[in-house]
Amino acid sequence: MAELQALLSQAQAEFAAAPTAAELENAKARFLGKTGRVTELLKSLGSLSVDEKKRQGAEINQLKGAIEAALQARRDALAAAELDAQLKAQALDVTLPGRQRGMGGLHPVSRAIERIESIFGSMGFDVAEGPEIETDWMSFTALNNPENHPARSMQDTFYVDMKDAQGRWLNLRPHTSPMQVRYARAHAERHAAAAADGSMPEIRVIAPGRTYRVDSDATHSPMFHQCEGLWIGQAISFKDLKVVFTEFLREFFEDSGLQTRFRPSYFPFTEPSAEIDMMFASGPLKGRWLEVAGSGQVHPNVVRNYGLDPEHWIGFAFGMGPDRLAMLRYGVSDLRLFFDGDLRFLSQFR
Ligand code: DAH
Repeated sequence: MAELQALLSQAQAEFAAAPTAAELENAKARFLGKTGRVTELLKSLGSLSVDEKKRQGAEINQLKGAIEAALQARRDALAAAELDAQLKAQALDVTLPGRQRGMGGLHPVSRAIERIESIFGSMGFDVAEGPEIETDWMSFTALNNPENHPARSMQDTFYVDMKDAQGRWLNLRPHTSPMQVRYARAHAERHAAAAADGSMPEIRVIAPGRTYRVDSDATHSPMFHQCEGLWIGQAISFKDLKVVFTEFLREFFEDSGLQTRFRPSYFPFTEPSAEIDMMFASGPLKGRWLEVAGSGQVHPNVVRNYGLDPEHWIGFAFGMGPDRLAMLRYGVSDLRLFFDGDLRFLSQFR
């Protein structure tokens, strides 16, 4: 009896000492397995008398039941501990600081373009967009560049080895000037209707977008941006161009003392033509003339290609580089920084 009690205590102690389920099963085998201590005891009953067998058998079975109960209790305890550990390992620590969502921001050139759009928008200019793959006719011919004329080489163009449905060669547009023609033609019906009912039709639009040339250094990139401007109507003059463009630059650079100068130049699509230079009234670039745009009164041949009569329609066009305006506004000296996609640079403009 005392022996059985000792055996139970020993089993309880060994089960309690088993740190894992596998070791607990080994301990179980030592007591309840084929050659385990309890099994051995049951086997030894065979040599006893019927009465003794009955008495001791009952005691041993009681012991076996107690050991099995102890085993089950330890199994449950180990399983609970394991679940507990698992829950702890996967626990969500709500006191940790949250993972920050990366803050995005507009690219400095996109910002410059948005600024251009809002300033010209406030002066009544529509904003238009057009294709980056253009026809040779739109890029050059419609803009008064005669076929094979050397003026075409003013722009080192990327040609596309493909023709459009009308058999015209394609290129990556070297400037946004084709948008003058596209926009005017797209609105031809509106202008005809306006002219017919005697009102004063006009076209007032800017067209920002990507442009391409075979060119690459600190101030030129093969892909760059331009913004075209066009204002034509019945009596739009160079004076209007001066007022509009000077006002635009003053707003854009937040410099009310900024000055402009119109320097005679040549473009096939304007006559007369001028480069627009500007000078800051303050800041590190103060006092230096900086070239910012090409401009001029639209050539009658170009007005004809708009589908309009140059006897009645007159006005001006200009083309500027938003990249260059962004460089001046933010004091960036290498254009390529804008297009390298380096977040250390770009995140400074957030
Ligand atoms: N398209 C010209 C260029 O890329 C810029 C330009 C000059 C546009 C004069 C104009 C203009 O509309 O009138 O160099």
